[in-house]
Amino acid sequence: MATTLKKTTNKTDIKYPIHDLLQKRWSPRAFSDKSIEPELLKQLFEAARWAPSSYNEQPWHFIAARKEDEEAFKKLSAVMNDFNRGWALAAPVLVLGLTKTTFEMNENSNPHAGHDLGQAISHLTFEASRHDLYVHQMAGILPDKAREIYDIAENVEPMTMFAIGYKEAASQLDDGLQEKEQAPNERKPLSDILTLNAG
Ligand SMILES: Cc1cc2nc3c(=O)[nH]c(=O)nc-3n(C[C@H](O)[C@H](O)[C@H](O)COP(=O)(O)O)c2cc1C
Repeated sequence: MATTLKKTTNKTDIKYPIHDLLQKRWSPRAFSDKSIEPELLKQLFEAARWAPSSYNEQPWHFIAARKEDEEAFKKLSAVMNDFNRGWALAAPVLVLGLTKTTFEMNENSNPHAGHDLGQAISHLTFEASRHDLYVHQMAGILPDKAREIYDIAENVEPMTMFAIGYKEAASQLDDGLQEKEQAPNERKPLSDILTLNAG
């Protein structure tokens, strides 16, 4: 079952064959400023839209800004922490992912709202991969700043941001980030993450 690695991947030890889009995906910090057309951007969010969710609640919401819209882009940039602002401003699109933490049907707490937002972003990521676009997610954001800037309901959580763009050479990054960019992409062994009595 061992698989031959494709040249497009930086993954060092894929033990079982997985789809090219999964092999190819990673989280670069060096982005080219090549623009993403609105129609293509909407196609990525269409993929997110069709993600499964608990009770089909679709608790996610996205605030996206293209670099071409200078005001919107600057506004959204303020929601990232300094470290992420250091590299993510190169990307042509920034997105804030929010999730509604209560169910629409009864206003009870929805414990899977964060899970569902993550899954929607995952769908978007693989659609992006199909178009040679890369997504880099960020937990390093300032949720209070997001609440200050945007009109966000109390039961909606600004959870993560992500940058979307075409990949650029690592040389555009400063030395510390260049090293991270070129490091092999590693994972825990499958035996650490899977309990399976398969003989
Ligand atoms: C929810 C989440 C939050 C993350 N937060 C950050 C972040 O704030 N800054 C950053 O540079 N990378 C961030 N990352 C990227 C991870 O470090 C990266 O996905 C991980 O090292 C695995 O690398 P890969 O995506 O290239 O396979 C985040 C990823 C996820 C999924």
